[in-house]
Amino acid sequence: MTTVTMAGSPVFDRRESEARSYCRSFPITFTSAQNATLTDINGRTYIDFLAGCSSLNYGHNDPDMKAALIDYIVHDGVAHGLDMQTEAKAAFIETFERLILKPRGMDHKIMFTGPTGTNAVEAAMKLARKVTGRQTIIAFTNGFHGMTLGALGATGNEAKRAGAGGAWLGDIARMPYEGAFGPEADTLAQIETLLDNPSSGYDAPAAFIVEPVQGEGGLNAASKTWMQGIARLAKKHEALLIVDDIQAGLGRTGSFFSFDDFGIEPDLIPLAKSLSGMGLPFAALLIRSEHDIWKPAEHNGTFRGNNHAFVTARVALEKFWSDGAFAAVVRDKAHYLEKRLDAIRVHVAGSRLKGRGMMRGIDVGSGDLAAMICAECFRNGLIIETSGAEDEVVKVLAPLTIPMKQFAAGLDILENAVVAAVSPNRIAAE
Ligand SMILES: Cc1ncc(COP(=O)(O)O)c(C=O)c1O
Repeated sequence: MTTVTMAGSPVFDRRESEARSYCRSFPITFTSAQNATLTDINGRTYIDFLAGCSSLNYGHNDPDMKAALIDYIVHDGVAHGLDMQTEAKAAFIETFERLILKPRGMDHKIMFTGPTGTNAVEAAMKLARKVTGRQTIIAFTNGFHGMTLGALGATGNEAKRAGAGGAWLGDIARMPYEGAFGPEADTLAQIETLLDNPSSGYDAPAAFIVEPVQGEGGLNAASKTWMQGIARLAKKHEALLIVDDIQAGLGRTGSFFSFDDFGIEPDLIPLAKSLSGMGLPFAALLIRSEHDIWKPAEHNGTFRGNNHAFVTARVALEKFWSDGAFAAVVRDKAHYLEKRLDAIRVHVAGSRLKGRGMMRGIDVGSGDLAAMICAECFRNGLIIETSGAEDEVVKVLAPLTIPMKQFAAGLDILENAVVAAVSPNRIAAE
């Protein structure tokens, strides 16, 4: 018998590990979700500006993906098949090849890794080392690449790194991301100088791993010029370029890949989060074909290639990426979001607009203020989270499919919360 009170079940406190995270900001129990709306056990609805941390770019329970998945299950479609060949897998790869790879002239192979982003990153880091015979991977300040030890090594966040309990997170060389030393510093030139100097102490790198927009690290968006510079440095030093598009890809910035307009050709591209289209666990590594030197089963795993995800991911590609219509709508919404956040930002002295596309936020200068704003949003029916080194960025990650009216309503809640959080009355009252 399940005990559920108005606030939820005590079982979470009693039995769920202390490692739990997002549920601490939103301590209620949800029952259902549709597009950008979440409903709790009391029937209260919330606007979702978190979207599974960009895993639900197409919203909750897209009707077409849901129908295709139900049909697949009803007809006893293979649910688990290790990495064996299935009809669902063939259909996904063919669709990905036709709609994503071929139009971009990409010869990349698709490697299905374990179902989380961090596993796709692990595979990328291992493969880069195997291809080059080198150890060091260059990662960037504020970068976030996952929680397994290799990916955690490439992750900058102190609190997350503490989870390793002192285990070695090595063979990573940290370099400054664009803007890390302020707007004037030329980080590309600094990196180049260090790598060119044979006495700098930097070993020749196996790869550079970089996010075009740092999702967890505070919505730092690299410019086209900077990303091209990193691609050039990777070539110059015969290192592979790993572009981690796990959070910024799949339409989040207004195009399928967040680097589509950058004129760069990454060697390895980890994808996860919204790849399944419906929030199902599913990750892949795109590998430039000349680098696909894995021996059979060298990066194995039981859950590689989730057949249910193959079904929904194929529908997502066909529905949203067969032509440019969806991308155009996303770009319009991104434009609206930018305008709204720019106006909201004015309420907080010294605040800054961060990010790109539909991956935007406001750096309010303090984690405490950002937390206060998000808590006030939650009280008023909006699910929204923070990011950044000090959790100082209030981060809008609405589903790309959110209806405009609901998007505006969510931003109204955010604006009111910002005004309330900075009002002297509120500070006095607390
Ligand atoms: C850029 C980036 N890479 C990797 C990961 C890790 O993905 P996962 O949490 O699915 O392991 C994340 C997760 O937030 C991410 O944002």
